[in-house]
Amino acid sequence: MTTDFDKLIDGLPKAELHLHIEGTLEPEMMLALARRNNVTLPYATAEDINAAYQFDGLQDFLDLYYAGMSVLIEERDFHDLTHAYLDKMAVQGLTHVEIFFDPQGHTDRGIAFETVLGGITSALEEGERELGITSKLIMCFLRHLPEEEAFGALTSACQHKEHIHGVGLDSGEAGNPPANFARVYAAARQEGFIPVAHAGEEGPAAYVTDALDILQVARVDHGNHALDDPALVARLVRAQTPLTMCPLSNLRLKGIPTLDQHPIKRALDAGLLATVNSDDPSYFGGYINDNYKAVSQAVGLSAREIITLAKNSFAASFLDDYEKQARIDAVDRYVEPFTRDAD
Ligand code: ADE
Ligand code: ZN
Repeated sequence: MTTDFDKLIDGLPKAELHLHIEGTLEPEMMLALARRNNVTLPYATAEDINAAYQFDGLQDFLDLYYAGMSVLIEERDFHDLTHAYLDKMAVQGLTHVEIFFDPQGHTDRGIAFETVLGGITSALEEGERELGITSKLIMCFLRHLPEEEAFGALTSACQHKEHIHGVGLDSGEAGNPPANFARVYAAARQEGFIPVAHAGEEGPAAYVTDALDILQVARVDHGNHALDDPALVARLVRAQTPLTMCPLSNLRLKGIPTLDQHPIKRALDAGLLATVNSDDPSYFGGYINDNYKAVSQAVGLSAREIITLAKNSFAASFLDDYEKQARIDAVDRYVEPFTRDAD
């Protein structure tokens, strides 16, 4: 059933700020790239792959996510992956995206950093030229690996500063606290990279505090468990530190038992700069608009709150202030016919 809110969401100008490009690998593309690159997969059909996507938690998902990456070998594979994502987004109102990539997931398999980066950036440039979608790239360190290996990725990133805006921290959170990456984040900040980190996805509120204090992040990815600590919420509200929340991801990774328990409404009510994103849409059964629609319905967001989420996505982005305002003005122009009779 299509609701009026669905129509509002469909073309609502929005940015996506929490998107792992490797998590957009659709089953059909995984099979096609496996054939193209002579990679053997444990699946014969897209149905087999979809059937395997039942996750008990983050680690369970990560095992399949890293295995899926094995089909990405040539520069054109990374280009095709990124291109396919942008093509889908062009009809979902998306006008800006800040994309994560996991170089260590590729360099550890013998794929050159430049192969990965070249494929992604050429598709992003094409996306801006042909689809009008602007972008920034955030390189993530894998937190289940030692900090010395993150330094290797940082050294590579320093050769390509014109293409990489920020650094992030992803992979298994439990037992891999932000403090383990204090030195590499200090070095990355020194080199001019903007720091963000996954925190409070499955880890405790204290990991969010540590991401702020130790890693000095400008934005918190997920941040769900920050809501367990009222003093931390007050701090995040005061600083307007954005949270990039991912409702369908949290549901599929069993961070919440049902979507109506998602904290997005509580976050908005508290005055947090919360945003909605898809994380790994191919694995979690929904791209950005699916996330907006499902969570709006489940927690009962108003049209005004949905519009706030879209504006927040630009306010929380790494666009400059002029661009932020221009994108927020575009939201106002788009929603005018939807809100004319409201209030
Ligand atoms: N890598 C890809 N998706 C992730 C997530 N949701 N959490 C941590 N690491 C990830
Ligand atoms: Zn993520």
